[in-house]
Amino acid sequence: MFRPDLLRGMNLIVSGGGTGLGRSMAKRYAELGARVVIASRNAERLETAAAQLRAETGAHVLPIPTDIRDPDACAHLVERTVAELGAVHGLMNNAAGNFLVAAEELSTGGFDAIVDIVLKGTWYLTQAVGRRMIRQGQGGSIVSILTTYVHSGSAFVLPSAMAKAGVLAMTKSLAVEWGSAYGIRLNAIAPGPFPTEGAWQALVFDAEAAAAEMKARIPLGRFGEHEELANLAAYLMAKESAYVNGQCIDIDGGEQLQGAGEFSNLIRHDRKQLKEVFQAMRKPKAQSEG
Ligand code: HXC
Ligand code: NAP
Repeated sequence: MFRPDLLRGMNLIVSGGGTGLGRSMAKRYAELGARVVIASRNAERLETAAAQLRAETGAHVLPIPTDIRDPDACAHLVERTVAELGAVHGLMNNAAGNFLVAAEELSTGGFDAIVDIVLKGTWYLTQAVGRRMIRQGQGGSIVSILTTYVHSGSAFVLPSAMAKAGVLAMTKSLAVEWGSAYGIRLNAIAPGPFPTEGAWQALVFDAEAAAAEMKARIPLGRFGEHEELANLAAYLMAKESAYVNGQCIDIDGGEQLQGAGEFSNLIRHDRKQLKEVFQAMRKPKAQSEG
């Protein structure tokens, strides 16, 4: 799909790049020639992922343990990246936390646990990288992973829904503020369900039983493939998408639309039978006079 050197010469930071979707995006960036820093809390997991990614892609992949809830740690991550690789050209805000909870049961600590990672942590890292990009004077691309419920809200994940919606507001605000003065563009990706160990552990009670029900909500009848998300993430990071700014691109197989369309639930029925019913419901043509 892409030139193999699409991202050559770019130094990119991926938060949460040692697991799940972050790892898949980091891999795609590395395959396309970027030098990639992966950053999250668990140093051992990060080291292992970096070694695997290096072996799989032959690229320069640097693990830097970082807790994005700490602004100083975010600043340090950027300093180390610059010391090891030079300029920072892009940031993928992917790190997050989530769990299922009834809102009335949620403790203050539980609310903070999610908001501190998703809203505040994402901002701390964005600010640290943005400050660096401003000093460099070459623009840059910052992409954040949201979820489709930034548009609709969602029951039972209230702090995540609130925090991710905040990151969407950050994306749009800075797309104008930093786009105009510094050529730094911000975009977001809102994925539907893409199976990962982290998300499924946090959010899916009985994976096997839930799969059919979850897929029935998606017009394309399947979950997303990591490569599909990674390709979109590569496009938004590349200079070739330089005129895309302040956008949130949904990648969910049409899931949201199916839920929203008044008559869309009819797709569950056999299509041939459905057409027969439509035909039977059709008003007979009025007999022409004379
Ligand atoms: C209610 C909970 C809870 C739960 C923790 N808490 N788990 N409350 N239900 N399941 C509360 C605790 O009681 C405590 O509050 C506070 O949260 C902090 O708890 P810790 O155990 O200290 O949490 P911490 O170590 O900070 O871990 C954060 C975490 C954890 C979010 C809870 O799961 C984590 O680190 N997750 C990272 C990975 C992850 O979640 N990935 C999934 C992303 S998927 P009190 O008040 O008691 O002190 C995603 C997909 C969305 O976002 C869309 C899918 C389609
Ligand atoms: P995941 O593997 O659990 O990813 C979460 C990552 O965030 C982990 O690598 C975790 O590493 C890191 N992280 C958490 N807290 C952190 C902190 N304080 N500082 C730094 N890193 C931190 O789950 P995933 O499914 O790949 O999720 C990746 C992103 O996709 C998230 O933004 C999620 O909301 C989004 N998303 C996923 C889906 C899906 O279906 N999978 C759908 C929509 C959106 P450590 O624990 O080592 O820090």
